[in-house]
Amino acid sequence: MTVVSSTPVSPGLKNIKTIRDFEITGKTIFLRLDLNVPLEKGQITDETRITAALPTVKYCLEKGAKLIIASHLGRPKSADDKQYSMEPVAKRLGELLDVEVVLMEEPSSEGVKHILYGHMRNQIICLENLRFDEGEVENRTDLAQSWAAYTDIYINDAFGACHRAHASIHALPELMQQKGIGFLIEKEIKMLDSLTDHPKKPFIAILGGAKVSDKIPVIEKLINVVDGFVIGGAMAYTFLKAQGIPVGKSLVEADKVKYAKEMIQRMEARDKTLLLPVDHITSTSFNDVTHMRLNPSVGIAENEMGLDIGPQTIKNYVACLSKAETIFWNGPMGVFETKEFSKGTFAVAETLAKNPGTKIVGGGDSAAAAVQSGYADKMTHISTGGGASLEYLQGEKLPGLEILRP
Ligand code: 3PG
Repeated sequence: MTVVSSTPVSPGLKNIKTIRDFEITGKTIFLRLDLNVPLEKGQITDETRITAALPTVKYCLEKGAKLIIASHLGRPKSADDKQYSMEPVAKRLGELLDVEVVLMEEPSSEGVKHILYGHMRNQIICLENLRFDEGEVENRTDLAQSWAAYTDIYINDAFGACHRAHASIHALPELMQQKGIGFLIEKEIKMLDSLTDHPKKPFIAILGGAKVSDKIPVIEKLINVVDGFVIGGAMAYTFLKAQGIPVGKSLVEADKVKYAKEMIQRMEARDKTLLLPVDHITSTSFNDVTHMRLNPSVGIAENEMGLDIGPQTIKNYVACLSKAETIFWNGPMGVFETKEFSKGTFAVAETLAKNPGTKIVGGGDSAAAAVQSGYADKMTHISTGGGASLEYLQGEKLPGLEILRP
């Protein structure tokens, strides 16, 4: 029996059922999660995606569902790429939930049915890395059929993979009558929708990272909603170049200089804020700490490149961000993975942490930066999907969501 949800859903989730809408006790749930966590020598270095998945997993366990968890991990070339085994993830899940997690090496095998037959409470089946079978990325129906054969209800809670039309995200729900989302996707979409649906003002978007080209669609989506953009990372140098400022050897996208110039004019015409670096931490080559120095002026010498924002820029950005009621952050301010070039990025994280307003952090590098800064728990929301959150925010339809609508 399915019931119609009384939970108010965001526009992006219109007509999509949530796990609450299903009677799941005793039912076999195929729960697609994004447990694609970073690993170093077999050790999980950031378990945010595992902990973010726990509310839905716990709900299934509490309701007495038979749970099959499925995820991809990295981009393995074949099933022999054992460094991408789900083993450490399955082990950690078992520890966090205090349940037995059975790792199935052959996700499509009869073995799953066998375990389901003798299923015990507090037991979870975890499929081996879905990408060990090439049918996953090829979105193959035969692979999806092998999963559908033992599934009663399909639940997608893999927000970070919703932009991929892969078998476990697309072909499987296409075959299923009973399908919906888990709590994580529900939260992610509501949070992202809150940025474009009457956000509290002032609303400032912080954009960073290497390329302007990656951010153009999101700039276009947000330009009429935000009160300002704060720009850092290598993408800032394309904007400085557009103003005729020397940027030395800094990374510049020559074919985006014209776009940057027009964007500066569009922001001026709208009387909106556009903050760019006014000083820099530079070096003579990428990530070279031996030649790093503070470049106190906006122009950069011919033999140098900017690798982080400078102290005056930090002051300017902090002043602007401290007054904002809503902040969206996507992209670091410098090469934050290296301590010497991390000050700008971590100063942004600290400013957001101190701001009592709504602070939504895009996934990927910005999520990693928020975690490394130690301020992750002070953010309103940190998305678990880098690519997915950006695609959703820029108005693209995510295959993993669209297939769940009737
Ligand atoms: C991610 O890390 O962004 C998601 O897990 C998707 O992974 P992918 O980019 O390898 O598809």
